[in-house]
Amino acid sequence: MKIRTGTLAQLKQKGEKFACLTSYDALTAQIFDQAGIEVLLVGDSAGNVVLGYPTTIPVTIEQMVHFGKAVTEATQSALVVVDMPFGSYELSSEQALASSIKIMKETGADAVKLEGARPEAVKRIVDAGIPVMGHLGFTPQSVNQLSGFKVQGRGDSSGQLLQDAKELQAAGAFAIVLEMIPAQLAQRVSDELQIPTIGIGAGLGCDGQILVWTDFAGLSDRSPKFAKKYLNLRDSLLEAATSYREEVRTGAFPTEEQSFS
Ligand code: KIV
Repeated sequence: MKIRTGTLAQLKQKGEKFACLTSYDALTAQIFDQAGIEVLLVGDSAGNVVLGYPTTIPVTIEQMVHFGKAVTEATQSALVVVDMPFGSYELSSEQALASSIKIMKETGADAVKLEGARPEAVKRIVDAGIPVMGHLGFTPQSVNQLSGFKVQGRGDSSGQLLQDAKELQAAGAFAIVLEMIPAQLAQRVSDELQIPTIGIGAGLGCDGQILVWTDFAGLSDRSPKFAKKYLNLRDSLLEAATSYREEVRTGAFPTEEQSFS
């Protein structure tokens, strides 16, 4: 069954949690889709994870289209959301709409995501028929303004975050990612919004959870405190590559089994 934005709303109404992962390629998209992961986010974290950039700031709309297309081609059920990269929506609501139309047309995605408290841009895109996911708390595209990777929404700023979330909801966002905020605040936002919240480093109170796939699979060289490793892919790959190199060097690979007569 195809997951739609309405499916996530129904899950929230029923009090059922859902799981989201990032994906940037057809192979992982196929596996995560088969596992029943409800949302695949083609995050601009691709800039860090796939392209090796120190931040997501250099990521372009063309790169997002490239990754987005690979994911939609391989996905049957999951809702595919493509991130709008830095510089593709900040200038005006018109720019935001034009960028989201390009992403939707060229990737076949189900929705777009943009960072920050930008209800005007969200409304303009939603009015054109494109579902939008919001993203509040720590927003990686603003890492320089936020003075690094820091928990957001502590103390006095908690009220502002709740207000921002309500404005995104009023503008028509179908869900909001809450990144690196105190668990109590995430719980309060989730309780007060009708639309689902999706937590990353935001505790148990959100309606869904999301992780960057290379963190969840233990492939990243460094991963944040909130990311649980469900396997240790980095060590497994290192071990496999070391064995392969050794077998090539010693002539143990290929054997007859891997050869043609
Ligand atoms: O780009 C991304 O992967 C994200 C998640 C961290 C939510 O925005």
